[in-house]
Amino acid sequence: MIIDMASLSPNQVYFSLIQTVIPRPIAWVLSDNGDGSHNLAPFSYFNAVASDPPLIMLSIGSRPDGSPKDTRENIEQRKHFVVHIAHPEMLESLNETSRSLPSGQSELERISVDLTDFGGFSLPRISQCRVALACELYSSQRLGSDQLLILGQVQKIYVADEACEKDAKGRSRIRADLINPIGRLGTDEYCTMGEVISLRRPA
Ligand SMILES: Cc1cc2nc3c(=O)[nH]c(=O)nc-3n(C[C@H](O)[C@H](O)[C@H](O)COP(=O)(O)O)c2cc1C
Repeated sequence: MIIDMASLSPNQVYFSLIQTVIPRPIAWVLSDNGDGSHNLAPFSYFNAVASDPPLIMLSIGSRPDGSPKDTRENIEQRKHFVVHIAHPEMLESLNETSRSLPSGQSELERISVDLTDFGGFSLPRISQCRVALACELYSSQRLGSDQLLILGQVQKIYVADEACEKDAKGRSRIRADLINPIGRLGTDEYCTMGEVISLRRPA
C-alpha cells in the first residue's frame, strides 16, 4: 500500500504519520503557569536533535478552539521547561495529564507525583521519573497553520542512580532497561521496552 499524503485530509495525514513513525519517545513536560503553579502534559512529537548545542524538539499544536495549548504558551512566555521520561508504572498518570483542562488549572492536582528541586534550576522535576531534562527555549518556528516547533537547549540532565551502573573501569553507564521508558504508537497504543540488542557500528 502506498499512502499519498496529498490525497488525505489533515486528520488522515496525522493518523498515517503517528501509526508509521513508531515507536516515539514521550516528553512529559512540566512548565510554568506564571502564577506559582505548574502545567504537566505529554508530547510524542519529541526527540533529541543536536548535541552542540544540546537540543531537543517538541511540536505542539492548538486546542480545538484554535487557542495555543498551555505548554506552548508557557514555554513561549517563560522559556524554561522540564522534560521527563516516564516508565510503565506512570502511564495512567501521564495519560491523565493529556486531559484538556481550562488554562491555568494544573494537571498536577489530579495525579499523585512529588516535585523536587532540580539542582537549582528554576523549575522542579518529578521525583518518580528516572530521567529529567532541564531545558531553556532556544528557538521556535511555526509549522503550517497549527503547530509550533520548539527547540529547547538542555541545561541539565537528571538520571536516577538506580538506572546507572559502573563498568569494570568504574565508568558510569546509563542502562536503557533500567530507565524502562514507555513509547507511543498510533492512536491510543503504547509500548514498553523489548529486548536490548547490542551491535557494534562498522568501522
Ligand atoms: C502520549 C501522548 C502524546 C501526545 N503528543 C502530542 C504532541 O506531540 N503534540 C501535541 O500538540 N499534543 C500531543 N498530545 C496531546 C496533549 O498532551 C494534550 O493536548 C494536552 O491537553 C496538552 O496540554 P496543555 O494544554 O496543558 O499543554 C499527546 C497526548 C498523549 C496522550
